[in-house]
Amino acid sequence: MVNVGIIGCGHWGPNHIRIFSQLSGSTASMCADINDDRLELIKGLYPDIETTRDYQKILKNPNVDAVVIAAPTKMHYQLTQEALEAGKHVLCEKPLTLKTEESRHLKEIAQTQNKKLMVGHIFLFNAGIVWLKNYIDSGEIGKIHYAYATRTNLGPFRYDVNALWDLAPHDISIFNYLFARAPESVSATGHNFLETAQEDLSFSTLTYPGNVVANIHVSWLDPRKVRQITVVGDKKMVIWDDLESAGPIKIYDKHVEKTSTFYATYGEFQLLSKEGSITIPKVGFSEPLKAQAQYFIDCIENDESPGLADAQKGEDVVKTLCAIQESANQHGRRVEVQ
Ligand SMILES: NC(=O)c1ccc[n+]([C@@H]2O[C@H](COP(=O)([O-])OP(=O)(O)OC[C@H]3O[C@@H](n4cnc5c(N)ncnc54)[C@H](O)[C@@H]3O)[C@@H](O)[C@H]2O)c1
Repeated sequence: MVNVGIIGCGHWGPNHIRIFSQLSGSTASMCADINDDRLELIKGLYPDIETTRDYQKILKNPNVDAVVIAAPTKMHYQLTQEALEAGKHVLCEKPLTLKTEESRHLKEIAQTQNKKLMVGHIFLFNAGIVWLKNYIDSGEIGKIHYAYATRTNLGPFRYDVNALWDLAPHDISIFNYLFARAPESVSATGHNFLETAQEDLSFSTLTYPGNVVANIHVSWLDPRKVRQITVVGDKKMVIWDDLESAGPIKIYDKHVEKTSTFYATYGEFQLLSKEGSITIPKVGFSEPLKAQAQYFIDCIENDESPGLADAQKGEDVVKTLCAIQESANQHGRRVEVQ
């Protein structure tokens, strides 16, 4: 039984409390927040949980094996460092840190302390995304030309990070997972239409090895809630839509063929669009947060690396975000992902 403490009980932390309370291999025994109203709400829902304003009490408790960091992003680095140094396994919410060096440092501390450090890249536990990954790996889609992700809504707004750092970690982690690597370079723009301290819209183009291009559009200022990814291969095309009730995946049997007809005058091949059926495969449903928590618990119990979303994967996402931000600050200049 893995005993879990949760730091941060705002919008997202209570979901972790619920899941770790439900799983048979874990218990959520303690939680911390500096806001008394949040602690009162949690106590009402989970009378057995110990609540505290001081997260140090969780870190000092020898009975707590693992800590979930669900506090604001700017605190992730410090809290994760303290938790690892206190000898706890850590599941930190995305993004792992705000700087690449910080993620690298946390990776080293986790290695030294021999503790699991996992990042809450929740979409790697989304059944539709897992299905898409298996489909790509099967080769049925063919060579991937490009992909694009749209993650938009009207709010919810954040004040500690901009829309890029809030939303794009999801899509970067998905693309890194689907293409099994980090991008080589990026070009991006960010826009602040609401005239706050934070950009509310970001368009990023990521170039992956093999000349695979992936575009990410994230926004807090959009009429529609969209959670979609399109992947275009040379044999098939696939759309993942997390909000589609009929099923999250649609396979389009569409591709383009070049005829062997040779036009003497122009020296060109003719392009023919080939259109087959659209298939909606059956994708089983499982709650991604639950699958993520179970994976974390299993890695602790079996002393295995949380390779799907470990510190390296977290660092890969952070270094991509840093490159995107640098590019956006320079009005779209191409930036290498270091
Ligand atoms: N994986 C996902 O889909 C997902 C969804 C939402 C949020 N998140 C991530 O979760 C994290 C939290 O997001 P949120 O929406 O819950 O934010 P939030 O602002 O609603 O909650 C953060 C909570 O942390 C508390 N806090 C601040 N300082 C603290 C301290 N010193 N000790 C203890 N508690 C402290 C705040 O009082 C607040 O209640 C962010 O990193 C965010 O990116 C992930």
